[in-house]
Amino acid sequence: MKVKADLLLINAEQLVTVKGNSKRPARGLALGDPGIIAGGAVAVKDGLIAAVGSTVRVMEQVEMTAETVLIDARGTVVLPGLIDPHTHLLFAGSREDEFEMKIRGAAYLEILAGGGGIHSTVRATRSAGEGELVGMGQRYLGEMLAAGTTTAEIKSGYGLTLKDELKQLRSIRTLAERQPVELLPTFLGAHVIPEEYRSDPDEYVALVVGEMLPAVARSGLAGCCDVFCEEGVFSIEQSRRILLEAQRYGFKLKLHADEIVSLGGAELAVELGALSADHLVAVSGRGVAALASSETVAVLLPATTFCLMKERYAPARQMIEAGVAVALASDFNPGSCPVNSLPVVMGIACRQLKMTPAEAVVAATINAAHALGCAADRGSLEAGKKADLVIFDAADYRSLPYRFGTNLVKQVIKSGKVVVGG
Ligand code: NIG
Ligand code: FE
Repeated sequence: MKVKADLLLINAEQLVTVKGNSKRPARGLALGDPGIIAGGAVAVKDGLIAAVGSTVRVMEQVEMTAETVLIDARGTVVLPGLIDPHTHLLFAGSREDEFEMKIRGAAYLEILAGGGGIHSTVRATRSAGEGELVGMGQRYLGEMLAAGTTTAEIKSGYGLTLKDELKQLRSIRTLAERQPVELLPTFLGAHVIPEEYRSDPDEYVALVVGEMLPAVARSGLAGCCDVFCEEGVFSIEQSRRILLEAQRYGFKLKLHADEIVSLGGAELAVELGALSADHLVAVSGRGVAALASSETVAVLLPATTFCLMKERYAPARQMIEAGVAVALASDFNPGSCPVNSLPVVMGIACRQLKMTPAEAVVAATINAAHALGCAADRGSLEAGKKADLVIFDAADYRSLPYRFGTNLVKQVIKSGKVVVGG
């Protein structure tokens, strides 16, 4: 029997399916294979992909009704909805003042140690109401959706008291109900040692472990737990303690690893079976080898390195050649990365990390889904997955990173509904 399609997209110049990597993240040759179908089509039923293939084959399998939305994608590139697996999107205030300080040569950790950086956003976020946080979040998510992001992770971490962390996580839940981007919340109570605990950091670790983790677990407001493991922030030992406890409560794990100083964060993420190790600018050879032999995804954030005006980027080619599963994310936050467009991130990844356009596309779709543990139902164009699609006004997918200064998104479809460019 033929499927009565709710939506039918036909004649895509390039249908970039990224298929075949739903069970395990793509690495090696698979990372460079975007799975393109020329003249491709996608049929959608009840928010899910019912059929994918050449336009002729898909047309044989479906039936149009008076209600079917027909999209002729002639001359365009169609991708799975982009997935952003690392953001700090929910915050109040802004940090343009630090932008100027950085231009004059101030370092990120220096600003932080002086009570600015994350601390300044913590002060603003603590004094903001949920309405204000949700309003700002809605604006940023609208920008991301317009650039093709249909699923995003959002971390807490600008509250740093149980009350304020829960306020952030509740705001994320409200945001999820108010706009189309699907949100996966992460608890990042261990984002920085708050100023009031500066004289006794271990006391704050004890608070995260003893009070915050159980309460956040009970609230059901976050699926993952993350720690900013960095010199002067949380040590390897403190990170291990927090993440082991988080695992006991059923959280999936992520880790800000080896961003500025090579502490062994990548090795810790692998040891604990984390979904991802993120940043990795200063990852060691041992860290790369550990990642290569694991299912932990290396989430690279080159827009952060660019915005911090650093010369040294994560060794993406070394990782890819060693067999590491690499994903890309924006890291959108008010300090180290005000960029929230994944095509812009892909443009920087190609130029600075020397990733190919194909690798960048796979890294921002199916591998990004693996970094969030949701590759079974999204991240590629395959029957049975969520019908999340982005149509770009370009005839070649390589235009996306190449022309990254222009938003080429023409239409976005989330769970079968046209949400941008109707
Ligand atoms: O991933 N490194 C820690 N957290 C963010 C920065 C957050 C901030 O500066 O507000 C990051 O870059
Ligand atoms: Fe981050």
